[in-house]
Amino acid sequence: MRKVSVMCAILLVATATAVESHATPKSRYDATTQTCRYLDDGPLEWASRPWGQGGKLFQERCKVCHSRGNDKGAPFLWAESKNSEAWNRVFAEKYPACAKDGSWGPMTMEQQMELNDYLYRWAKGAQDINDSC
Ligand code: HEC
Repeated sequence: MRKVSVMCAILLVATATAVESHATPKSRYDATTQTCRYLDDGPLEWASRPWGQGGKLFQERCKVCHSRGNDKGAPFLWAESKNSEAWNRVFAEKYPACAKDGSWGPMTMEQQMELNDYLYRWAKGAQDINDSC
């Protein structure tokens, strides 16, 4: 009996470690507002998921043009098109032409941050980042 519970404990620890090593980033430092966004807990954990506010904004505000084979001249974009730092730069510097010409539409600062959180969290290589604050 004792042996069984020890085995179970080892298995549990091993599983937890495996999950941990594939985890998405715990936090994102937002340069524009100079705030820390906690992505592993609380309301932003949900909001930064594909079906949360951030993921929905990406579908509604970005994918209208950045879908595969679009006729808007926009390159195909999805979360893994860039790494986390590169997505932060898109929002901090607003360098794309579409950000400058108003194609993003009106967005509150909170919406911009939620969209950035989503892309940051699911970006290429994001599972290797632990914390950015
Ligand atoms: C009305 C269409 C339209 C919408 C909406 C739009 N874009 Fe774009 N975007 C474009 C076009 C066209 C380009 C290519 C322009 C160029 O670089 O000459 C572009 C370029 C970009 C680039 C640079 C290309 C790259 O691979 O780095 C990024 C990043 C980008 N958009 C992000 C976004 C994000 C994020 C959103 C949503 C908040 C968005 N775009 C919404 C049309 C759009």
